[in-house]
Amino acid sequence: MTDRHEIDAATWHKLDELPDEGRVQTVVVDGRPLAVTRCAGRLGALDNHCPHQGGPLGEGTIENGLLRCPWHGWEFDIRTGKSWCDPARTRVKSFDVSVTKGGALAEGPYQAETFPVSIDEDYVVVEI
Ligand code: FES
Repeated sequence: MTDRHEIDAATWHKLDELPDEGRVQTVVVDGRPLAVTRCAGRLGALDNHCPHQGGPLGEGTIENGLLRCPWHGWEFDIRTGKSWCDPARTRVKSFDVSVTKGGALAEGPYQAETFPVSIDEDYVVVEI
């Protein structure tokens, strides 16, 4: 788990959905489709485009802990994106994934100015 003080709200994005254990799912983050995986309790996120011919990795399967492309079966490490058969030269861009308590991402350096408001008889009073 990432410490909440390490989270940079400008680069981290909250995911509204996660795949079930042993599954991969396409999740669009900031307009970019990612193949998000969950395997053995660990989460991973890879670019959704297979480096072979652009197959949609988010529609692939998890087999023996590897993400298998649905088009021709190339396999990738779900955390590093390295190809199983050619890890030194072929990889998919990977992204860090962490689980953090709700609300930590919503906090930022800026706070809206607030004013006390009350209702007095038939008037709404705002103190500025
Ligand atoms: S496009 Fe992924 S293995 Fe061919």
